[in-house]
Amino acid sequence: MTAPTIVVIGVALLGLLSEGRPLPAGNKSSFNKLLMISFDGFRWNYDQDVDTPNLDLLVKEGVKAKFISPPAIPMTSPSHFTTITGRWIEDHGVVHNLMFNPKTLLKLTHKATQNRSEWWDNGVLPLWITAQNQGLKTASFHYPGGGANFSGQSVTRSLVESYGHPDSNETEWRENIDIVMGWFTKENFDFVTLYYGEPDAVGHAKGPETKERRLMIQQIDRTIGYLLKAIEKHNLKNKLNVIITSDHGMTTIKKAPAVEEIKLSNYIKFNQLVHFDLLDYGGYGMILPKEGKVEEVYQALKNAHPHLKVFKKEEVPESFHIAKQNRILPIVLYGDLGYNLNSRIILNVNKGDHSFTNEHMDMKTIFRAFGPDFKKNFLAAPFDSINIYPLMCKLLGVSPTPHNGSLAYTQDMLVDDIEVQLTQEPTGKKAEASGRKGPRVQKSILQKNKQKKVFVVTLKIHLHNY
Ligand SMILES: *[C@@H]1O[C@H](CO)[C@@H](O)[C@H](O)[C@H]1NC(C)=O
Ligand SMILES: *[C@@H]1O[C@H](CO)[C@@H](O)[C@H](O)[C@H]1NC(C)=O
Ligand SMILES: *[C@@H]1O[C@H](CO)[C@@H](O)[C@H](O)[C@H]1NC(C)=O
Ligand SMILES: *[C@@H]1O[C@H](CO)[C@@H](O)[C@H](O)[C@H]1NC(C)=O
Ligand SMILES: *[C@@H]1O[C@H](CO)[C@@H](O)[C@H](O)[C@H]1NC(C)=O
Ligand SMILES: [Zn+2]
Repeated sequence: MTAPTIVVIGVALLGLLSEGRPLPAGNKSSFNKLLMISFDGFRWNYDQDVDTPNLDLLVKEGVKAKFISPPAIPMTSPSHFTTITGRWIEDHGVVHNLMFNPKTLLKLTHKATQNRSEWWDNGVLPLWITAQNQGLKTASFHYPGGGANFSGQSVTRSLVESYGHPDSNETEWRENIDIVMGWFTKENFDFVTLYYGEPDAVGHAKGPETKERRLMIQQIDRTIGYLLKAIEKHNLKNKLNVIITSDHGMTTIKKAPAVEEIKLSNYIKFNQLVHFDLLDYGGYGMILPKEGKVEEVYQALKNAHPHLKVFKKEEVPESFHIAKQNRILPIVLYGDLGYNLNSRIILNVNKGDHSFTNEHMDMKTIFRAFGPDFKKNFLAAPFDSINIYPLMCKLLGVSPTPHNGSLAYTQDMLVDDIEVQLTQEPTGKKAEASGRKGPRVQKSILQKNKQKKVFVVTLKIHLHNY
């Protein structure tokens, strides 16, 4: 059920509205800046078995969702790209961390894929580019996808993680925060995405239920404390909204002899039946059988292992929002929670892993937000990460491109729930001349109408469902 909405149309004085967001001066935006930080593999409940004073403070000072759900391939690049585009994986096309080509048998590493525009640029624009096209300055600091070009456009400033970049150097983490603060204050960037490779790395190497993982959460908590101080020091407290989130959770991998691990070569002869596969990469995999062998591979695997789910591409539940994508191979596999998909030998040394189906609680991840536009001490209901995109657009005053998210899940987090609509729509020409489209243009036209002091507003009062 959607929240009932009462729409009140009336005449209001400008003074009334200026109690909400300040109106822009000239064509200068009045929208606050936005920093979106992603800590890779931060499971939704990682703060519950270790002392995290700064994350706890953020609960009081801002918004917390109990958890959020990643898209149906809970893997770094597919999930981060859903967050930054607001599109399902079948639309944005980033179906794996590895760029691959089943015709040429090419497979690139996750790092090498970052620089390959042809993997990322499938006609869906990430928010950096859309915001830039509406006059904003945006940057990506190590965020997946930020290094690619989209329709020939690059992110104004983009740092791509180098090969061999250390994931857990706390000093470097703080330096990165200082750098980003400088981008906001000295160079007037509006929107920055900042990515950290932990606690994913430690979750894989040591497992999620370990002392090492808990220590990493404390390191992240100290980093958030550093961020809070940096925001104050740079006088950004009233100008910067911050969203802290992640791409997926982590679960402990079940190993022999406690369980029978999944090894697909027990059931199919790879050299006879398989042309190309993406396996040995967590709980999700795909197979392109040799010409005419789809049915044989499918039948051989279908009931092979009690904890292996096998789909023909066209059988994948529509709710996964992956199957319409050309890059999805004819056979799609998921292990049950904790059962990694091994192909020919059990090489996988990971103690923790992800990419299991997203309904498992261990795949859920975090959402925190604070800053001038967010309510304080607000606990939000769980939602899908795809809904972060329209929230970010709203915060930045950017007109979103078509997307699959909805503000309905997040708008209650915001202090200002008043939508201003003008009777006089900006003409196309004026809008283009100002270099900005959508809500930003509308606000600057508002400023021009200041003399008249009167205009029509649409007040949407949202009633909460309990
Ligand atoms: C307003 O827009 C014009 C034209 O795009 C630009 O030259 C000017 O610097 C902008 N002013 C401010 C205050 O942003
Ligand atoms: C990505 O491209 C940049 C610029 O060409 C280069 O410096 C960097 O090494 C590349 N990084 C990776 C991981 O390929
Ligand atoms: C992006 O486009 C620029 C300009 O054409 C080019 O120099 C650069 O190599 C491209 N980067 C990627 C990652 O494709
Ligand atoms: C951690 O990062 C700092 C700052 O970039 C650097 O000086 C230091 O050598 C790094 N430490 C390690 C162990 O790599
Ligand atoms: C996602 O959004 C795109 C763009 O509006 C649309 O074409 C597509 O049908 C949507 N997908 C779903 C499952 O609603
Ligand atoms: Zn991972």
